Amino acid sequence: MKFLQVSQAMKKGTGKVAVRGWVYRERGSNKMKFIVLRDSSGLIQCVLPREKFEAQWKDIDGLKIESSIELEGTIKADKRAPTGFEIIVSKINIIHLAEDFPINKDLNEELLGDRRHLWLRSQKMIAIMKIRSKYVQAREEFFVKQGFYKFDTPVLQPTQSEGGSTVFEVKYYKQKTYLAQTWQLYGESAIFALEKVYNFGPTFRAEKSKTSRHLSEFWMAETEVAWWKLDEITEFAKKEIKYCMEKVAKECQVEFKQLGVDSEKILKIAKKKWPTIKYREALEILKEKDKMKVPFGKDLRTIEEEKLMKHFDTPVVVTNYPREAMAFYKPKDPKKSDEALCFDMLAPGIGIEIVGGSERSLDIEEMSNNLKREGEDPKDYQFYFDLRKYGSIPHSGYGVGIERVLQWICDLDTIKDAIAFPRTMTRINP
Ligand code: 4AD
Ligand code: MG
Repeated sequence: MKFLQVSQAMKKGTGKVAVRGWVYRERGSNKMKFIVLRDSSGLIQCVLPREKFEAQWKDIDGLKIESSIELEGTIKADKRAPTGFEIIVSKINIIHLAEDFPINKDLNEELLGDRRHLWLRSQKMIAIMKIRSKYVQAREEFFVKQGFYKFDTPVLQPTQSEGGSTVFEVKYYKQKTYLAQTWQLYGESAIFALEKVYNFGPTFRAEKSKTSRHLSEFWMAETEVAWWKLDEITEFAKKEIKYCMEKVAKECQVEFKQLGVDSEKILKIAKKKWPTIKYREALEILKEKDKMKVPFGKDLRTIEEEKLMKHFDTPVVVTNYPREAMAFYKPKDPKKSDEALCFDMLAPGIGIEIVGGSERSLDIEEMSNNLKREGEDPKDYQFYFDLRKYGSIPHSGYGVGIERVLQWICDLDTIKDAIAFPRTMTRINP
């Protein structure tokens, strides 16, 4: 008999079916064994009466959770069953009798982290991983529709780009090299050939603090576009995230429900207008509504961002941050020399930065000075400066932290659950 996925079998609803997967729950008596079977599509209760399985009963009775099995039987609707259907089993093939599964309700976060490879089978992680997969597919679809080219770049890079303090150094034959902090500098090279490019890749930051919103390895979804200025790129960033949110809200309703998240609310947020304000206006809001005095020149920090975002129910784009404390490639605003033509997008509620972007400086001297201030040798950035020597044009781009977006829309306590195998200051295993 051809195997059906659990969800397909439930769709069929009656008659003979064959399914396979893992034992999610088991209980039984001397006369009957109840198994909840799990596959990638869902769960279904299966009933094995002892009288039909006398010869196999010892193994069936001893089936522990996560054992792998194949079953044949008759499916029927049953309101008492956990997912509304039940299979009365007529044949079982035990593929593997599992040992005692080393995960239970009492494990703390640390031990669950150690057993992450097994914890991925939990209903919570399955829901998150499905939403993540759908989100990434939706984004791909968005960029194809928008006529962009996907552009792949090296993870091993000769320089830092987002500040030397968070760069990972790697031994590269006889020299030093670094793990990518961003795709951007290479993305910028590509716009002179392809004009509109995007990518999705692993990104590394040696974040030396333990927070619920920082990973050492995360996946950044970056975009770079020729000719566009700040206002165009910020509107486009909103459009990208709205598109992906709508798609996942519509197609992952079951998974959001599993996580206790209202997907209708996500849909509503995606349909609203998302404001753009200047950094100086953000400071005004903090001063007026929160009696918080943040001096200009200080980057918004977690506490300020959280406070600010309590006043919004959609993401907000904040532009024109103070120029100091900015990555070297962020240009000054010609109309306001103490502001940079850059932006962050902040998410409501949890108040985290989910996107960072900017116009790109076209001024080699300005960038060289910024680099020198950071202790870098501008000579190491010759390839980047070349882009300003041969047909230089205005251009801009941004990067979305996918795990941050997932943490927000899935309402996760920690960013670590937005990625299968989190890497942090204190974890490199498994
Ligand atoms: O703001 P960032 O540092 O911007 C850049 O790297 C630019 N070069 C991107 C570009 O313009 N192409 O990082 C972009 C986003 C942040 O808004 C945040 O969502 C995420 O990447 N991010 C992190 N996510 C998880 N853990 C970390 N340690 C992160 N650092 C940044
Ligand atoms: Mg940033």
